[in-house]
Amino acid sequence: MKKNIVLGVTGGIAAYKSAELCSMLVKNGFEVKVIMSRNATRFVTPLTFQTLSKNEVAVELFDIDDWKPEHVNLAEWCELFVVAPATANFIGKMANGIADDAISTFAITCDSIKLIAPAMNPKMWQNPAVQRNCETLKNDSVIFIGPASGHVACGKDGVGRMSEVSEIYNEIVKYAE
Ligand SMILES: Cc1cc2nc3c(=O)[nH]c(=O)nc-3n(C[C@H](O)[C@H](O)[C@H](O)COP(=O)(O)O)c2cc1C
Repeated sequence: MKKNIVLGVTGGIAAYKSAELCSMLVKNGFEVKVIMSRNATRFVTPLTFQTLSKNEVAVELFDIDDWKPEHVNLAEWCELFVVAPATANFIGKMANGIADDAISTFAITCDSIKLIAPAMNPKMWQNPAVQRNCETLKNDSVIFIGPASGHVACGKDGVGRMSEVSEIYNEIVKYAE
């Protein structure tokens, strides 16, 4: 039985690759609902994910059209939460239980399996606060996919690139089927 997947998208340049991930999951028979940070919508529009997932996309916490807020509805539905790309900011919020927007509130509401694919500039990835936050998440049983080494969009080489979409997909399948 395929698990219900919530795909979280946060505000990094790799957000465009997440559209391909969404498409791949849907083509392979997964039901996918997408939740985006506001900053992610600066990179890719919710309409892209709405079309690919064939479901409404959640961005705002206070857009409530049900008696139960969307983060609670989604958390009850979700069986696997994957965040790709995961920004340094989102990682920091998730590691510290900060819930100041829809996606970070969702992260502490949902108790499903959680996977994250970090993506950032190598200097950001090496930053001690970011590394500390990652250790915290690993201790909280969050599964990390990457980041990979290579060329990042800002022109630098190093560790911080989001893992290839196929690799993220294969990792999801390990936990979602
Ligand atoms: C062009 C551009 C690209 C960015 N790429 C990244 C990135 O790849 N990873 C990252 O952690 N932050 C990146 N940032 C910074 C984040 O967008 C910023 O920290 C933001 O607050 C993240 O918000 P969110 O986590 O709520 O999506 C980028 C910012 C800009 C302007």
